[in-house]
Amino acid sequence: MAAAQNFDVVVLGAGAAGMMCAAEAGRRGRRVLLLEHGEQVGRKILISGGGRCNFTNVNARAENFLSANPHFAKSALARYMPKDFIALVERYGIAYHEKTLGQLFCDGSARQIVTMLEKECAGAAVETRCGVNVSRVNMDGGSHLGARFMVETTEGAISCEAVVIATGGLSIPKMGATAFGYDLARALGHAVVEPRAGLVPLVFSESDREQWCDLTGISTEVVASAETKKPVFREKLLVTHRGVSGPAVLQVSSYWRPGGEVKFDLAPGREMLGPLLEKNARRDAASLLAVLRGALPARMAERWVQVHAVERNADWTNAGIARMEQALHAWTLKPAGTEGFVKAEVTVGGVDTAELDARTMESRRVRGLYFIGEVVDVTGWLGGYNFQWAWASAVAAGEAIADRRQ
Ligand code: FDA
Repeated sequence: MAAAQNFDVVVLGAGAAGMMCAAEAGRRGRRVLLLEHGEQVGRKILISGGGRCNFTNVNARAENFLSANPHFAKSALARYMPKDFIALVERYGIAYHEKTLGQLFCDGSARQIVTMLEKECAGAAVETRCGVNVSRVNMDGGSHLGARFMVETTEGAISCEAVVIATGGLSIPKMGATAFGYDLARALGHAVVEPRAGLVPLVFSESDREQWCDLTGISTEVVASAETKKPVFREKLLVTHRGVSGPAVLQVSSYWRPGGEVKFDLAPGREMLGPLLEKNARRDAASLLAVLRGALPARMAERWVQVHAVERNADWTNAGIARMEQALHAWTLKPAGTEGFVKAEVTVGGVDTAELDARTMESRRVRGLYFIGEVVDVTGWLGGYNFQWAWASAVAAGEAIADRRQ
């Protein structure tokens, strides 16, 4: 049998978090091996932000993340902030702009971010190997304290002091997503918060499909919410041939649970039907349509009138108009489901943070084992938050791994 190769650290998964962590630990003097089972590093970065990579959000804070423990992300996010990643981007001369709501995108292409991370890894003497499959991670010494690990791969066994799991979530299986991180965590006794699709389009129920689906392509600004106490998002909604999408819907999808409802205010901050209440105003479908055209795209306004006034034989009293106003501010759908991991930008849930150290990302069960990025039960909103978590958790682990030596 060939002798095991030896490294200080093996990082599994060369996505955003894995590359960042490898570079950080390498820069601090550790011998790092970065293993990727796909043929290429940073594949999700390349397709992110419509090819321009929304690499951070200047407003990122713990409140913008979902987790069973809402406090867990605070420490890492506070120690590696958007301004730190922006400084790195600027050091590489990558031009960027703020699109909206604090979201920073490359002016050029997402490839620039991948190239930057490759250079960071190369500069830190990280050895990167693609197309390598990992079959097992064994604790060599048999002891859970200060264990040396044996990582078994298609290229032989690798022994190391620390293993970082940066294998991401389940979204976009064709990009190489696997359940490896969750399976390993479970095998070592970690709990995993049930992974589910997040930042994902929602699918209409049968009856809603009949009523709304032919409006495919229509987009309008809404205030969206999934449950009363959850955050609300003022962004665009898009009707698709299967249901609803657009940033507002993607945001609430992460909070939505099967069987639950989503609500959309179609005329945020505006009272629309006031003109119908005026003295001598006409109160009929035509006048309702005229006022709704001020808030909604024409075809949507027409459909709204059809559904709420014509089909339901509207009551044109003051109380009836008030009810129609209310309905406009709370368009309620009960989705049949989501479009699933095939279309999801992220996975909500993941390795339970209860047994991870929030400062270092190290497992409390197995010393020397770290979980970073999307595999952890920390999920950001749409808008650069998920990459900020990848960078911040990666740097937290990279620093801690370097400190282990002292
Ligand atoms: P990531 O998934 O990036 O990397 C994991 C790596 O591990 C992959 O390379 C995978 O092949 C590898 N791997 C898996 N199993 C393995 C195994 N067993 N052995 C070895 N390697 C293995 N976020 C954001 O902030 N701004 C944005 O603009 C976008 N845009 C966007 C668009 C689309 C279409 C998607 C799908 C997602 C986004 N995101 C995003 C989300 C963002 O891409 C995501 O949160 C991060 O890439 C997560 O980084 P990780 O490194 O944790 O996982």
